[in-house]
Amino acid sequence: MTLDHKFVAGEDGAPVLLLLHGTGGGPDDLIGLARLLSPASPLLAPAGPVSEHGAARWFRRLAEGVFDYDDVAVRANQLADFVLAARERYELPQRLVAVGFSNGANVAGATLLLRPDVLREAALFSSMLPLPETSEAIAEDLSGTRAFLSNGLQDGMAPLDSTERFVDLLRARSAEVTSHRHPGGHQITMAAVQAAKDWLAGV
Ligand code: MLT
Repeated sequence: MTLDHKFVAGEDGAPVLLLLHGTGGGPDDLIGLARLLSPASPLLAPAGPVSEHGAARWFRRLAEGVFDYDDVAVRANQLADFVLAARERYELPQRLVAVGFSNGANVAGATLLLRPDVLREAALFSSMLPLPETSEAIAEDLSGTRAFLSNGLQDGMAPLDSTERFVDLLRARSAEVTSHRHPGGHQITMAAVQAAKDWLAGV
């Protein structure tokens, strides 16, 4: 397996949740959130493989909010390959949904765009546009992809105009997008958790 991770078994009928922590976090960070979203789900929680002065991340950045796009693509593919291997190892053929916060939401967003063969659903908290709209590696047809995005109106780290461009890109390629807004900043609110829970159940 290409990524260190934690696996928590769950019920076969519940979707696998792929938990992707934010910068400086780890595999345990989103377990409480996952339990609120879907208590019976198996959990697959890898650790970000990139170190930024000791803080785990999913891809390199040049400055805050300025991404190394080549690394974003490499790492999104690494995550996709990890998911394929983990599904086989833990015998997880069912629906799989990524749940990411901040940098973890950004790598999940990139994986939705680049590897729809592996990832078709994601709940993204405090995410932004992870790749340039002009990237030729982005899949042309994302029909069948479902994304939930929750963003704060006061989020200085994931500015709304970047989020809006990401939503537009997903919709332009036929993905189904649910956009949730809250009055706060770079955070997960209880209203966002409830909206994500409704979205998860609404297939
Ligand atoms: C990122 O680098 O993905 C975003 O700026 C959010 C973060 O600080 O992790």
